[in-house]
Amino acid sequence: MAETFKNFIGGEWTDAASGKRFENRNPANRDELVGTHPDSDAGDIERAVAAAAKAFRSWRLVPAPKRAELLYRTGELLAQHKEDLAQLMTREMGKVLAETRGDVQEGIDTAFYAAGEGRRMYGETTNAEMPNKFAMSIRLPIGVCGLITPWNFPMAIPTWKMFPALVCGNAVVLKPASDTPATAARLVGILAEAGFPPGTVNLVTGGGGRVGTPLVEHSSVRLVSFTGSSEVGRAIAATCGQKLKLCSLELGGKNAQIVMDDADLDLAVDGALWGAFGTTGQRCTATSRIILHEAIAATFTERLVARARKLRVGDGLEPGSEVGPLVNEGQRESVHGYVEIGKKEGAKLLMGGKPATGGALDRGWFYEPTVFGGVTPSMCIAQEEIFGPVVSLITVKSFEEAIQVANGTPYGLSSSIYTRDVNRAHVAIRDIEAGITYVNGPTIGAEVHLPFGGVKDTGNGHRESGKQVLDVFSEWKSVYVDYSGRLQKAQIDEVKIQ
Ligand code: UN1
Repeated sequence: MAETFKNFIGGEWTDAASGKRFENRNPANRDELVGTHPDSDAGDIERAVAAAAKAFRSWRLVPAPKRAELLYRTGELLAQHKEDLAQLMTREMGKVLAETRGDVQEGIDTAFYAAGEGRRMYGETTNAEMPNKFAMSIRLPIGVCGLITPWNFPMAIPTWKMFPALVCGNAVVLKPASDTPATAARLVGILAEAGFPPGTVNLVTGGGGRVGTPLVEHSSVRLVSFTGSSEVGRAIAATCGQKLKLCSLELGGKNAQIVMDDADLDLAVDGALWGAFGTTGQRCTATSRIILHEAIAATFTERLVARARKLRVGDGLEPGSEVGPLVNEGQRESVHGYVEIGKKEGAKLLMGGKPATGGALDRGWFYEPTVFGGVTPSMCIAQEEIFGPVVSLITVKSFEEAIQVANGTPYGLSSSIYTRDVNRAHVAIRDIEAGITYVNGPTIGAEVHLPFGGVKDTGNGHRESGKQVLDVFSEWKSVYVDYSGRLQKAQIDEVKIQ
């Protein structure tokens, strides 16, 4: 049954002022309309930002441990609704139920982790250089935060941004991807049920140009946090640069798994399958390149292809499915476009390379798990983010060459090395240019209490998750309390030792 969803502004569920709506369809079955959502515009953003600015004035004064109590309640509500949220998420974006449950679990973990910060969020006390003077640094909220989130983690990524923002005392306006507005609406409903005051959490749905751009440009939005493509990230950073806004970006990846000659090959194949084809390859952290030492390349390739052929492509709601559909028609065209490029570049298509069709699959945007062999590091399919179930195998002669190839793209999000040599593992940890390195594990599976983000074109130096995310959502203030009763001049007065 298709639902009619609304925006959430100032504590009220509302339609777009224009009354326009857009459709949200199931990518595993395009005949199924999951719901319709407000197709909003700058006027709706104006109202949401005004509601957030108003709410911020009192929310910032609520003690952080009290703010955190609402997050604990949110975590409990998310846990209660885990199954129905996962079902809805699978219906709107396609990944298999085990993974949508994991996505909701990541939101639950983030709720409890961020709530814990309500009683930490430590600043520092330190020594002043003048006598009878006290020095400390404290965190303060920033104001209204504009949050723009992608469709591949419809629960985890909004929570990574919203929960720390809220515990720090900010008010937020969320603009979710147009492929996953339903999960976002449920999440916001749960926050309201948990007791977040009107205006602290606002939701405005609609397209990037009509909703995202006015949100980024709005003079009352002090901070923009965006997860998505590097191309859009650059444009957002340019606007924020012009307007001197704070801006946190999590962008693309071209993550490599290195498999050395001494690796446990079955383990490495398990990791590669999960990293490359989990979430149908639609993770920023997905394994997109596998760099193979020449001594094991043939054996590894044979085992990988044999296992990948057995993966069951199908509707994520069906218990046996392992690889769901791509999120929409455009994404399938884009993935297929890369496959065509790979073939033209001379890479060897070992399996897949076309839409998965036949029977029920014809109703959705399915694509066969695809493996390219004989890929060279400079090929387009080894350089650009594909965001689909396509993995490129690159053979190298040495460990040094493996590291060089791993580092040879503009991106630097996740990475992995399979080896039993502890020395090599440590050199890889040091030398791979990425925000995340796994040893003997796939490139996916980051946990919420460690910093998440990347180097080079993957971002602009910020991290989500971990305690590091507090640096995104709070400003530091340094405080000096002079109890000497006289004017003391730092750097100028000489302090005499009595
Ligand atoms: C993403 O790929 O956009 O580490 C986020 C992982 C997940 C989060 C991925 N915990 O794969």
